[in-house]
Amino acid sequence: MSQNVIEAIEQRRSVRKFKPDPIPESFIQRILNCGLSAPSAGNLQPWQLWVVKLPHLKAALAEAACGQRYVEKAPVVIVVVAEPERSAAKYGSRGANIYCLQDTAALIQNMLLTATAFGIGSCWVGAFDEKTVGKVLGLSEGLRPVALLPMGYPTEVLYHPPRSKRPLTETVITLE
Ligand SMILES: Cc1cc2nc3c(=O)[nH]c(=O)nc-3n(C[C@H](O)[C@H](O)[C@H](O)COP(=O)(O)O)c2cc1C
Repeated sequence: MSQNVIEAIEQRRSVRKFKPDPIPESFIQRILNCGLSAPSAGNLQPWQLWVVKLPHLKAALAEAACGQRYVEKAPVVIVVVAEPERSAAKYGSRGANIYCLQDTAALIQNMLLTATAFGIGSCWVGAFDEKTVGKVLGLSEGLRPVALLPMGYPTEVLYHPPRSKRPLTETVITLE
């Protein structure tokens, strides 16, 4: 891996234009494994990762994502699926409605940062029709797709400055 975690955090940005070149399988496995290393409430790991490479399924996912066509142009789309019932079994409705989604968010960010470290671009895609994505993948009842992560080598330089972010002075409240 070419970067430390701080560099990856500072340099990550959403990428929506991909080369068709495939991502080496070893990189995909490492990205998935780093996702699975994320913290989760009670270490319940209430998630599934669907790795989609079939063109017709990627096209269907792009369609379900309000027609965001760049999704299907990525050589790989990882669909992050939450398992609310796994969290509910221990934590009830707080598990199903909050922990489960926080857990998957941590997993997603781990994967985005790992991809960045490999020079692979991605974008967290949350705008999609859940039911349609569930049908495309054939998900069982109760499972919730929470993000599509198209991944591929960027057509542009990956490491230009991140989008402008709200400053510390506006977002950090220190009580001392
Ligand atoms: C929960 C969530 C949902 C998002 N959904 C979409 C989306 O559907 N399509 C898209 O192009 N970007 C989506 N994004 C990416 C944001 O637009 C992007 O992170 C933001 O503009 C900041 O840019 P940066 O990632 O380069 O820092 C989403 C990000 C998050 C965290």
